[in-house]
Amino acid sequence: MDISIIGAGNMGGATALGLSRFCPEARITVTARHRETLEKFSSSGIASTLDNAEAVKGADVVIMGVKPWLLKEVLTPLLPLMKEKILVSLAAGIPASTLKEWTDGFNLAGVYTVIPNLAIEIGESMTFINEVSGNSGTLRTVNGLFSSVGKSMVVDEKQLGAGMMVASCGTAFALRYVRATMEGGIELGLYPRQALQAALQTVKGAAALADAHGTHPEQEIDRVTTPGGITIRGLNAMEEAGFSNAVIQGLRIWK
Ligand SMILES: NC(=O)c1ccc[n+]([C@@H]2O[C@H](COP(=O)([O-])OP(=O)(O)OC[C@H]3O[C@@H](n4cnc5c(N)ncnc54)[C@H](OP(=O)(O)O)[C@@H]3O)[C@@H](O)[C@H]2O)c1
Repeated sequence: MDISIIGAGNMGGATALGLSRFCPEARITVTARHRETLEKFSSSGIASTLDNAEAVKGADVVIMGVKPWLLKEVLTPLLPLMKEKILVSLAAGIPASTLKEWTDGFNLAGVYTVIPNLAIEIGESMTFINEVSGNSGTLRTVNGLFSSVGKSMVVDEKQLGAGMMVASCGTAFALRYVRATMEGGIELGLYPRQALQAALQTVKGAAALADAHGTHPEQEIDRVTTPGGITIRGLNAMEEAGFSNAVIQGLRIWK
């Protein structure tokens, strides 16, 4: 399957690298505005061009990775070349009604809003997919592509914002937790590299454990909180400082 990514910046570039590594049937072409942006792809067997139209012509699936405010300007001249092709927009803030209006009359096979996160590059994305238009075949294609680079979830449009906050912005939120843990670990006597490795592996292990057991996080927490012990005292101290409340308030800024 030929996939062209128009705008191979942070997200488009990570998507290209992830699909090229983990989706054997995907042949990837990337575009950008500047030649320098494309240089990092040459060693990964990913084709590149500065010509968006050329990239779109050979594609089955076109992924738009430009900034949301550039989407209409970059997409409009490409639409006449997209007959029977699948369009994937990575722009969370562009409503389905707007994408429908822009693409109406161009006979696209399907139009999707897809919100991956940066871990797509290493095959560990949490990706949300909303179908703007299409059929079971095109949805299977899009879902297949993004489930090859992590987990994917097909959701209603009204859930996309929540998905983005939890999983895309959530990458930054989780890493801020890691940074805070490092700072505390260093104060207690670990060297920065030790603290970083310990924090990352602990977060990875905790997530993998809850995922493997299919448990509510609190069930795993119960297993490490000895009555009167240091874990529950630590948790309570964090909650007194507003830990859960701070996380919820951070997510809520989408509303
Ligand atoms: N970052 C995330 O975690 C994340 C997560 C989910 C969704 N998204 C969405 O992904 C989209 C891209 O965000 P980003 O953070 O990846 O932006 P970015 O790093 O700025 O990348 C945008 C890319 O678009 C290229 N570009 C600009 N104009 C172009 C044109 N006319 N033709 C071809 N390429 C062009 C730029 O090329 P040059 O580099 O050559 O200038 C740049 O590489 C946005 O819609 C964003 O909402 C981002």
